[in-house]
Amino acid sequence: MSESLQDYLKREQDRINSFMLNLLENDDMLPDTLSESVLYSMRAGGKRLRPILMQAAFQSFGGQGDKALPAAAALEMVHTYSLIHDDLPAMDDDDYRRGQLTNHKKFGEATAILAGDALLTRSFSVIGQADDMLPEEKVHLMTYLSEAAGAAGMIAGQTLDMEAEDKESTLRELEQIHNLKTGKLLTYAIVAGAYLAGAKPETIELMKQFGTYIGLIFQVQDDILDVTGDASVIGKPVGSDEVNKKSTYPKLLGLEGAKAQMEKYVAQAFQCLEQANIKDSRLHELTIHLSTRTS
Ligand code: IPE
Ligand code: IPE
Ligand code: MG
Ligand code: MG
Ligand code: MG
Repeated sequence: MSESLQDYLKREQDRINSFMLNLLENDDMLPDTLSESVLYSMRAGGKRLRPILMQAAFQSFGGQGDKALPAAAALEMVHTYSLIHDDLPAMDDDDYRRGQLTNHKKFGEATAILAGDALLTRSFSVIGQADDMLPEEKVHLMTYLSEAAGAAGMIAGQTLDMEAEDKESTLRELEQIHNLKTGKLLTYAIVAGAYLAGAKPETIELMKQFGTYIGLIFQVQDDILDVTGDASVIGKPVGSDEVNKKSTYPKLLGLEGAKAQMEKYVAQAFQCLEQANIKDSRLHELTIHLSTRTS
């Protein structure tokens, strides 16, 4: 790992962006407003952390080349759809995302809903059209993506998150919400990367556990940044959770308590990597990066 993490992040970000945007920019037959609205959210400055985690997992298990790129692009499209819908007035009602007006503020609610729908459905054909994957790999990844994003995955988490507004949640309940709304897609990133590199079933199980901790670390830091972050750096409003009376880690445990809990998740994530026999990898660096990120 002679390349610095910063350079690695930038290089993988560029790689995913050129692959993903090239696909979407060449989609024809879309009505102009829909295409503009989809590209508006996809071109905005997302960190691309899910695709990067997938590439890092793929590489940590010996994967080489571009085989994982379509699965990474599909995941980032599902993630971006989830953000467009998460920001809608009926949900978190936020005005800024990725450093620009939210999709519905720019294009109106109806177009924003449809842009989300378009990204979700397109994600499955991106996997279906992948060049380097075997048919059984495509079926496996499509089925797994549908589960991770669906009614027993991310959507379940978004539902529980809404239902927990204005209520006192326990740590267990909060872990469950974060696990579903954020952890399921992050786990997909890691497991799909390991799977495409040919990792064994026992190892995949450990990567599922690792993904769960990554999801918790990620969402706890997101909750912390909603309190302490700088809106111009995170590219979205600060204080949205308080306005919406969300159940969050800082609300339940205080800021210091939330940080301490996150450290426990970091230690547990590292244990999973050790059990999977992965040493000094990008996944270690990314775990630390996610727990300390400022955007
Ligand atoms: C924000 O995700 C939503 C959560 C699940 C916490 P990111 O922080 O990855 O957002 P982008 O993709 O960089 O905009
Ligand atoms: C959203 O969580 C998770 C999703 C599934 C989109 P948040 O509502 O905390 O995400 P932000 O803070 O708006 O990015
Ligand atoms: Mg939300
Ligand atoms: Mg939100
Ligand atoms: Mg948040």
